[in-house]
Amino acid sequence: MVSGTAPAAEATADEIAHVEVAPLYAQDCAACHGANGQGVPNLGTALLSTAYRARRVDSTIAHAIADGVPGKAMIGFGKVRGGPLTPAQISALVAAIRRGRLTN
Ligand code: HEC
Repeated sequence: MVSGTAPAAEATADEIAHVEVAPLYAQDCAACHGANGQGVPNLGTALLSTAYRARRVDSTIAHAIADGVPGKAMIGFGKVRGGPLTPAQISALVAAIRRGRLTN
């Protein structure tokens, strides 16, 4: 497990620590991944499930959030894709998924 690795190299640990994960997730992710990350059938993956977290390394999760999943309803949320999220926000979401807890 490489959970100590910051997937978005542009973000400092301090910037990541200052992101409020819960409101961010509620606004941008909950509709498709469930209020508690439990997933929505035939839509968003159960991001907080143990099975999902065991299946993906952080960089893969960060890549999906930043760039989206081709052919799925998952758009790229990274600013480089015209989305709303900074590298620090993406890293904070990845860290929260890794922790299994959508709060700081
Ligand atoms: C419009 C609905 C929608 C929204 C909003 C959305 N997602 Fe997704 N997301 C999806 C779908 C659909 C998939 C693909 C599921 C599949 O593979 O069948 C996906 C896939 C993902 C994956 C990759 C799963 C894998 O296979 O590794 C991650 C990570 C993810 N979403 C995180 C997020 C985060 C974090 C947010 C908020 C910033 C978000 N999503 C917002 C619908 C959404």
